[in-house]
Amino acid sequence: MKAFYIGLLGVASLLAAGNAAAQAKGDDVYKKACAVCHDQGIAGAPKLGDKAAWAPRIKQGMDALYMVGIKGKPGTGMVAKGGNASLSDADVKAAVDFMVAKAK
Ligand code: HEC
Repeated sequence: MKAFYIGLLGVASLLAAGNAAAQAKGDDVYKKACAVCHDQGIAGAPKLGDKAAWAPRIKQGMDALYMVGIKGKPGTGMVAKGGNASLSDADVKAAVDFMVAKAK
């Protein structure tokens, strides 16, 4: 029962945190579904926080980056949703937001 209340408090504070919560979600999705390639630059993936690698990609605009995150990029190692089909489009967008924020 105690754990239930603590969980409830957690949810309430997440809702209250708003923006911070969205950022935490992006971080979380990134670690689960994207870090495996984007931490080390596997298969030519732009690394997290690598400004030089991200700058030309960011220039394409956020919508283009969201599309790649959700649909993948044909002919590259970037598969739809990083291969994690259970992610919602919003989850993927949060992860892209997180990655772009780290590269600015
Ligand atoms: C299996 C490895 C792998 C995983 C997992 C992966 N990526 Fe990628 N990602 C790549 C590679 C490789 C590229 C570079 C593609 C290219 O431009 O050649 C890339 C590029 C990108 C780009 C830049 C696209 C562009 O147009 O330049 C975004 C945004 C991106 N990934 C988002 C994500 C997100 C979000 C996740 C997790 C949900 C994720 N990736 C998981 C391999 C991966």
